[in-house]
Amino acid sequence: MLKSAKNNTKRFFLNRGYQVDKLHPARLIRILAKRFGYALYPISPEYPLHPPIVGQDLMVLKDAEFQRSIKAVEHHTLLDVARLANLWNLARMTGPGTFMEVGTFRGGGALHISNAAPEREIFVFDTFEGFRNLARGLDDIFDPNWFKDTTEEHVRLLFRPLNRRVTVVKGFFPQSAASLDLGKVAFCHLDVDVYEATKESLNFLAGRLAPRSLIVIDDFRRGAHGLDRAVSEFLGLRKEFSCFPLFPGQALLFSRKLWDEC
Ligand SMILES: C[S@@+](CC[C@H](N)C(=O)[O-])C[C@H]1O[C@@H](n2cnc3c(N)ncnc32)[C@H](O)[C@@H]1O
Repeated sequence: MLKSAKNNTKRFFLNRGYQVDKLHPARLIRILAKRFGYALYPISPEYPLHPPIVGQDLMVLKDAEFQRSIKAVEHHTLLDVARLANLWNLARMTGPGTFMEVGTFRGGGALHISNAAPEREIFVFDTFEGFRNLARGLDDIFDPNWFKDTTEEHVRLLFRPLNRRVTVVKGFFPQSAASLDLGKVAFCHLDVDVYEATKESLNFLAGRLAPRSLIVIDDFRRGAHGLDRAVSEFLGLRKEFSCFPLFPGQALLFSRKLWDEC
């Protein structure tokens, strides 16, 4: 009886265009507190700061195309709205050239980048079998069994209804790209998490970038020590590159030479 009343209520709101989520007890307490005129905000003991993000009046959040893209990818990506917003804005700032996502898992991030600039050709890479090597002492937060629950076909199907120039490649990057003509790369979302893959990917990409190109690296300064090490080793060798952290947990990397030339 109670179950069917709950289901009917849920259907009622779904039919009227609401997103219906289960109410967490903490939210219930906040709602009750509000009735008495108090606003409660949870504060993490690790970082006692509030608020993490104020989304009000952010242009990208009001962009209808961005909203459509988020809806299309939300069940196929691990990325949050803030990181997807950075990708959206930055991908659109690049000069002519191809797009790439290295480390796509279920493909939502790649589709989102493609949605930001649908006319661009995009190359999408993953082993579709998870990690090859985890470096002891560097990649310890990652589990060798993660990211196996996906296929190339899943990613291809995401793109199938759209008229996009997309190539999905299975295998360990960058070796998996060796025989491909990638053209000059204007934008790459590099999301491979770990030391070896990040290091090899950056070395491969450095010589293939277009003028006004950008690389966004996921999980920067987020406890992925292998990835942070790979970025700093790369910057130590390639002095023409600069790297800036982006909130929450990405890095923006680019060649100053390739921006100065334009
Ligand atoms: C965090 S997931 C990617 C998440 C994805 N970008 C999204 O939007 O949800 C990391 C992925 O990197 C892949 N990966 C790690 N090293 C790789 C490599 N060298 N070549 C290709 N894929 C790799 C893993 O298989 C895994 O699917």
